[in-house]
Amino acid sequence: MDWLGLSKKTVIVTGGASGIGKAVAVGFSEVGANVVIADMNQEAGEAAVSELSTESGNQHRFVSCNVTDAESVNQMIESASEITGQLDILVNNAGINIPRLLVDPAGKEEFSIDLWNTITTVNQTGVFLCTQAASRAMLKNEKGGVIVNMASESGLEGSEGQSAYAASKAALYSMTRSWAKELGKHGIRIVGLAPGILEVTGLRTEEYERALSYTRGITIEQLREGYKKQSIPLGRVGRLDEVADTVVYLASKRASYIHGTVINISGGKSRA
Ligand SMILES: NC(=O)c1ccc[n+]([C@@H]2O[C@H](COP(=O)([O-])OP(=O)(O)OC[C@H]3O[C@@H](n4cnc5c(N)ncnc54)[C@H](O)[C@@H]3O)[C@@H](O)[C@H]2O)c1
Repeated sequence: MDWLGLSKKTVIVTGGASGIGKAVAVGFSEVGANVVIADMNQEAGEAAVSELSTESGNQHRFVSCNVTDAESVNQMIESASEITGQLDILVNNAGINIPRLLVDPAGKEEFSIDLWNTITTVNQTGVFLCTQAASRAMLKNEKGGVIVNMASESGLEGSEGQSAYAASKAALYSMTRSWAKELGKHGIRIVGLAPGILEVTGLRTEEYERALSYTRGITIEQLREGYKKQSIPLGRVGRLDEVADTVVYLASKRASYIHGTVINISGGKSRA
C-alpha cells in the first residue's frame, strides 16, 4: 500500500549529492518516487543517483545545477518535469557554511563582504530561485505540489562564528511563512525543517572545524567533544536518515495540513 502517496511522484532534491540531501534522495526512492538530484558536484551526484532504489520501477536522474544561477535552475526544473510531465515536490537542501567572526581583534578571521554575499546567495537566494521556478511548474498541476526548505536550528538560536549562515537560515523561516500565504491558494504546500547537530556530512570539513573552533576560542578537539554532548536531551547527535524520514513524511499526503511552519529536529536540544 502506498501509505505516503509518493509513488511515481517526481521529487527534486537540491544538494542531493552529499550528506542530508543524499539521505533524503534515498528516502524518496525507497517509497517509489522519481528522484532528481540537482547539484554542482557532478561526480558525487551521478554516484548518488546510481545508489537509489528502482524497485518500484521509479526513475532517477542527476542534473548539474547551480542554485544561484537562474538559467541553470530553469533548465533543471524543465529536465525534472520531463520524467512524468509534472514536478510534484522540491526539497531546497543545497547550502554552504563557512565560519568567520564579525570582528576579530586579531584581524584574522572576519567576514569579507564577498564571503558574506556568497553564503547568503547560496542559502537564501538559491532557495528563492528554485522555489520560484518550481512553483511556476507546480501551478500547472491539477493537485499543486509541495516544497520543503532545509533551515537550521541556528536560524532562530543564532550561532557564534556562523552569523551569515544563521541569518540565511532565519530567512528561510520567514520565506516559508510568507510563501505559505501566497502559495496555499494554489494548492502548493510549503514547510521547513530545522535540524540541530547531526552526524558528519560534507559541510563539516577540516577547514570548517578549524575556522569554527578559532571563532569560538577553543581547540578542534573541544569542538568535536561539544558535538557529542552539547545539551542534547536525547544524548546523541541526529542521524541523516532521521532527517530524511521527516522530509519524506512532510512531503507526503499524510502531512497535508502542515503548511507555513518550520519543524525542529534536534533531539530536544535548546541553548536556553
Ligand atoms: N549537517 C548539519 O548538521 C546541518 C544542520 C542543519 C542544517 N543543515 C542544512 O542541510 C543542508 C545540507 O547540508 P549537509 O550538511 O548535508 O551538507 P553537504 O555539504 O554534505 O551537502 C551540501 C550539498 O549542496 C551542494 N551545493 C552547494 N552549493 C550548491 C549550489 N550553489 N548549487 C547546487 N548545489 C550546491 C554541494 O555540492 C553538496 O552536495 C544545508 O542547507 C545545511 O545548511 C545541515
